[in-house]
Amino acid sequence: MEKLLIEGGKKLSGKVKISGAKNAAVAILPAAILADHGVCTIDNLPDIEDTNCLEHIIRNLGATVEKLDGAMKIDPTGITSHLALRDEVKRMRASYYLIGALLAKFGKAEVVFPGGCNIGVRPIDQHIKGFEAMGAKVSIEHGVIKAYTENGLKGANVYLDVVSVGATINIMLAATRAEGTTIIENAAKEPHIVDVANFLNSMGANIKGAGTDVIKVKGVTEMVANDYSVIPDQIEAGTFMIAAAATRGDVTLLNVIPKHLESITAKLLEMGISVEEGEDSLRVYTNERPKGINLKTLPYPGFPTDLQQPMSTLLAISEGRSMINESIWEGRFKHIDELKKMGASGKVEGKIAILEGVETLSGTEVEATDLRAGAAMVIAGLVAKGTTRVTNLVHVDRGYEKIEDKFTALGASIRRIEE
Ligand code: EPU
Repeated sequence: MEKLLIEGGKKLSGKVKISGAKNAAVAILPAAILADHGVCTIDNLPDIEDTNCLEHIIRNLGATVEKLDGAMKIDPTGITSHLALRDEVKRMRASYYLIGALLAKFGKAEVVFPGGCNIGVRPIDQHIKGFEAMGAKVSIEHGVIKAYTENGLKGANVYLDVVSVGATINIMLAATRAEGTTIIENAAKEPHIVDVANFLNSMGANIKGAGTDVIKVKGVTEMVANDYSVIPDQIEAGTFMIAAAATRGDVTLLNVIPKHLESITAKLLEMGISVEEGEDSLRVYTNERPKGINLKTLPYPGFPTDLQQPMSTLLAISEGRSMINESIWEGRFKHIDELKKMGASGKVEGKIAILEGVETLSGTEVEATDLRAGAAMVIAGLVAKGTTRVTNLVHVDRGYEKIEDKFTALGASIRRIEE
């Protein structure tokens, strides 16, 4: 079993280049199959398990895919199948974007139920509601989501009952080729939604309003492949900001969009940590022990749930009491038990976690119970006294590119071992 072995207690310092956004990339790769002709080169692509998995899935649908350094070339013209039924589809969450993309392309799709992190109930009723409003008949049979139309999709008005990133993107994908206009109300506004819309528009789609809560998609009859560069990863950037603060270091992040990080910057400032914004860089530094704060996760532009877990580690060693309200995923506090194994003090009641800040943590073996829990454990290992072993790295590798190399370059003592 692979583990990350971390000797804690070293202040991080230096520069780190942030990779392309996982949650944009995992939608842009399925979106690329919508091109009727041409080849897309997708650049600034993170080299992580989720994009590697999509590479296989898209290739198995019939596309020609070439992996380059930090990029992928996709020629989707050979895709003739609307079936994504192989086991690898189950390995990740974002494979559900194949339903929207295949429905748009062929008017029909069969996709195995997606997997991903176990962070709470993860229904897809809002995705299905959108596809049905556009005229698809959707059923779930033996773990396969089947969506069929008689004569293609028709534009429709869809009001999302919950603000859902996945449903917003999936409905947007399906609507690109529907007959007429689709209006998505109460849409999610995350930066990756704008990024996917920009990519689709660059291929000839007609999407307006991405980044607001009303998105209008006029269906088009043809889309042509285009080259595209994925935006920087807001969550990876936030993870390094938090790690810099937790080790009381001085780290400059390169290749970031500071605007996307405002909610994190605001919270770090509130804790007494210094953050300086450049045009496409951010410097985070402190010498002091941070102050505890209260935090509530919310859809963008609120504080992202995906950083709640790394932030828990920082709050666990901050001064005084902190309260976290996790409003998106009810099962996203498993990392608190792992932090407690390292000496953190706190309790969880439903959607609320209360942490009483301790001076420091002490190293032991802890588990990455999901992707961002893994990031929380790595940060905990970086600050802890002694040696920390982080297990179950499959989760971490799904979403963080070369995590140990990036931390090593900042002065951490962290390496991957086989045990
Ligand atoms: N929801 C429904 N019905 C739906 C869809 C969602 O009730 O049909 C609920 C969910 O249960 C949840 C809330 O709506 O309470 C938000 O879910 P959303 O659909 O926005 O989440 P997602 O699309 O499944 C993406 C990211 C997650 C991230 C969430 C929220 C991808 C592949 N995943 O998931 O990222 O936590 O948005 O921002 O984009 C991660 O990267 O670690 C990760 C888990």
